[in-house]
Amino acid sequence: MSVDVNQRAHELREQLHYHSYRYYVLSDPVITDGEFDRLYNELVELEKAHPELITPDSPTQRSGSDVSEDFPKVRHPAPILSLSNVYNADEVRAWEERNLRLLPAGTQLAYTVEPKLDGLTVVLTYENGVLTQAATRGNGEIGDVVTPNIKTIRTVPLRIPAHPNGKPAPQRLVVRGEVMFLKRDFDALNERQAAAGLPVFINARNAASGALKQKDSRITATRPLTAFLYQIVELVGITLDKQWDMLDYLRDMGFQTPPNSALYPTLSDVIQQIPAWESRRNTLDFEIDGVVIKVNDLRVAGELGVVGKDPRGATAYKFPAQEGTTKLLRHVVSIGRTGRVIPNAQLEPVFVGGTTISNATLHNYDIVAALDIRVGDTVVVKRMGDVIPNVTAPVVALRDGTEQAIQPPAHCPFCSTPIIRPEGGVDFYCPNLHCPERILRQVEFFVSRGALDIDGMGSQTVKTLIDKGLIHDEADIFALRADQLLELEGFADKKVQKLLASIETAKTRPFERVLTALGVEGVGSTVAADLAAAFGSMDRLLTATLEEVDAVEGIGEVLARGIVEWFADPYHRAVLDKLITAGVNMRAEERIAAGDQLAGMTFVLTGTLPTLTREQAEELIMAHGGKISGSVSKKTSYVLLGDSPGSKAEKAAKLGVPIISEDELRGLIGG
Ligand code: IVH
Repeated sequence: MSVDVNQRAHELREQLHYHSYRYYVLSDPVITDGEFDRLYNELVELEKAHPELITPDSPTQRSGSDVSEDFPKVRHPAPILSLSNVYNADEVRAWEERNLRLLPAGTQLAYTVEPKLDGLTVVLTYENGVLTQAATRGNGEIGDVVTPNIKTIRTVPLRIPAHPNGKPAPQRLVVRGEVMFLKRDFDALNERQAAAGLPVFINARNAASGALKQKDSRITATRPLTAFLYQIVELVGITLDKQWDMLDYLRDMGFQTPPNSALYPTLSDVIQQIPAWESRRNTLDFEIDGVVIKVNDLRVAGELGVVGKDPRGATAYKFPAQEGTTKLLRHVVSIGRTGRVIPNAQLEPVFVGGTTISNATLHNYDIVAALDIRVGDTVVVKRMGDVIPNVTAPVVALRDGTEQAIQPPAHCPFCSTPIIRPEGGVDFYCPNLHCPERILRQVEFFVSRGALDIDGMGSQTVKTLIDKGLIHDEADIFALRADQLLELEGFADKKVQKLLASIETAKTRPFERVLTALGVEGVGSTVAADLAAAFGSMDRLLTATLEEVDAVEGIGEVLARGIVEWFADPYHRAVLDKLITAGVNMRAEERIAAGDQLAGMTFVLTGTLPTLTREQAEELIMAHGGKISGSVSKKTSYVLLGDSPGSKAEKAAKLGVPIISEDELRGLIGG
């Protein structure tokens, strides 16, 4: 083997490590996906020709292999401790008071507050910068070695520092953190599962656990996990005195740390911040079940010691459980827009996590059977984020024998059509395209926020329009006239004009939104965007072959077949024709590159600009090769400033980021 080949493989690894860190951890890539793929493929080819060049930290080693290690066990270098819990401000104060009694009089403690991520603990070992081992927590002393599985996680650096100009790697670093799904990744995974006719995952944490425990890491590789690291278990050669510095150090090495972590000078500041965390809970892209409060001074935290398995220097402030038990009164069937039969539970009202719940989803009949949930059972209900509550389990011990098994219906409760179950599928369906309930649900979806977003068309209006025979499908919305709407109860002149205006606006929504709105099974916003990018227009999509649809990245064979069949169906074609005739946008926007004067620059916008709207300014910047970011950092090239700017302007000034006006932006692109 020539030195050149060795050298080239080394270079490629270096570049791929760096670009993968920029892409996955910083979300700030500096090369295109195509360029990345070219580098990656070159390395794959080199390694194929010279397998002896493959190193354990090679980026090609993330894709998983079928080498089934029967999870060897490993002893952690130090106990992987747990946390004590507190539930209110008084308990937080009592925790501090207990600690202060163990410390010299007059000690002032500062604290970090981190989200308590609802994932699975992992322990990663880096030797001379290379990830050599990843283990689960196990019993806190001995864990399972799951290295190949962890290597599939893009945000876990295979080598540190991830940045080529970073501080040198320590000789040995053992770091602890949490592996989990981001909500959007979990939703996308379920979208793909459903499209492939596979069961969906109900609980993100269980799904993450399942993914980590796969014997074949190629399966783990199809589950887009992520990892946040928050604690150094062992570090040779460097001493860090503060938790805050530890987080900084981990970030410097290229790890993701718990988002929005903060340092506070006193416990009162911490307590003041907790309500903000609680109200933010459901808006985050990850599940948290509380916050972790940590004594910032690690020397002091060490002196405080451990009670049982809980260090005194940290505690978990747990948010109220979003879980409760109640009686399942009735099994109610609903029919979705695709005809899917959805079992629901009518519950005895129960107060859980701040609201009263009287309905919950039972997902599908396989799950009902697997969990053996019966009418009359006392059941556990759980609220997860902002979604519909789940029934997660029956309380078997409370049964008295009068409970009734839950069966799928034989006929659609809305149109009496016999229910079918497609072969190999999990779900039951009402196959009647004219089923009034399906149409109602489809129209509701069509006008909803994520679809065509028609303001002023709530569920009740949709129902009235269908009941009065004014619309028979979603396309009929575009034929509605003012005189028809004026006859509806509560619709005066102004309201009618407003509704008609928003119907008009809906025609101009981006093509991928129109595609989403059609309600093709398995085509959520992600797949719709892929389709729009691949085909560009409805004309092209309508003539696409199965092979062409299947060739789109992210679309498997089952979904491709479903999509092609959907567009070939005469009923759907008739609806589509009406939409086309009505002038609904059926073409993807082409981003015409106007120049590359802003290539490599990142812009943050704030305030109202004199002539451009925000969208226009963003388009202008992107058309000239620039990037848009939501927040100001040292990496921001310019802050584009308008009237009544927000805090971004202050931050820019503090960081020394240049602030420019709309005119100056035009100057940059030369006119
Ligand atoms: S610190 C000695 N920080 O919560 C250090 N734990 O209920 C103890 N967790 O087992 C852990 N986010 O799995 C810490 N920012 C965070 C965390 C966190 C989630 C988990 C961790 C731990 C459990 C304790």
